[in-house]
Amino acid sequence: MSFTKKITARSLKIAKSKGEKFAVLTSYDATLARLSEEAGVECLLVGDSLGNVIQGQDSTVPVTIEDMCYHTSCVANGVDKTMVMADMPFMTYSTPEDAFVNAAELMRSGAQMVKMEGGAWLAETISLLTERGIPVCAHLGLLPQSVNKTGGFRLQGKTENDAAQILADAILLEEAGADILLLEMVPKALAGQITEVLNIPVIGIGAGNQTDAQVLVVHDLLGLSGYIPSFVNNFLEGHGSIQNALTAYAEAVKSGAFPDDAHTPG
Ligand code: KIV
Repeated sequence: MSFTKKITARSLKIAKSKGEKFAVLTSYDATLARLSEEAGVECLLVGDSLGNVIQGQDSTVPVTIEDMCYHTSCVANGVDKTMVMADMPFMTYSTPEDAFVNAAELMRSGAQMVKMEGGAWLAETISLLTERGIPVCAHLGLLPQSVNKTGGFRLQGKTENDAAQILADAILLEEAGADILLLEMVPKALAGQITEVLNIPVIGIGAGNQTDAQVLVVHDLLGLSGYIPSFVNNFLEGHGSIQNALTAYAEAVKSGAFPDDAHTPG
């Protein structure tokens, strides 16, 4: 994708329509944001995974809107063209009214899009936000903010019923106005089917290589996290420098080389 202009939700939709894959990476500070942009990463996600990798928490649940706004402004200050998406943290969008107030704070901090975890119950909130000019990425599959309810981090959508539910939610949330869908930890075939059915771009993590884009937690990609999920490749190994590792990741995503089958769960 060309970096001559600021990348927006619209540019990512155009990329999908042309069959061009794009790279997404988490980011929490201005320096790695700048290096990621220089590496050709089209979209940076200020993930609430900062609870794990920056704050040392054992889940994303303790992350606050103030934490997210602070890191969103750091990342936005580090980039010029790369799009910045920010996670709405736990319980900041449980009603449409809360979602309005908190999404507006993230947009004021430099986000161009907000991301929320959940299925059909989010349709009304997504319509209300997108109608009022706030682009939304819907997050389906494994939902880390619900870990206390679901009891762990495992592949989702394995049974026929669960897969049909994720597909139905994806269609509903696109109809509600979602600009992007993120699928975490679902079987490759299901992610491929959803990517084909939807018009909006689909970003995958632990979901095989048939989606329009991939995202990884930057600390995982650099081999810095204590626990590295099986779908992650350590791009620092063999690439000598952080800049080379980020570039190798962006290139491997765009060519479809990453993730290969060895980095695809299920
Ligand atoms: O918070 C995060 O980093 C995320 C990714 C794992 C997709 O939501």
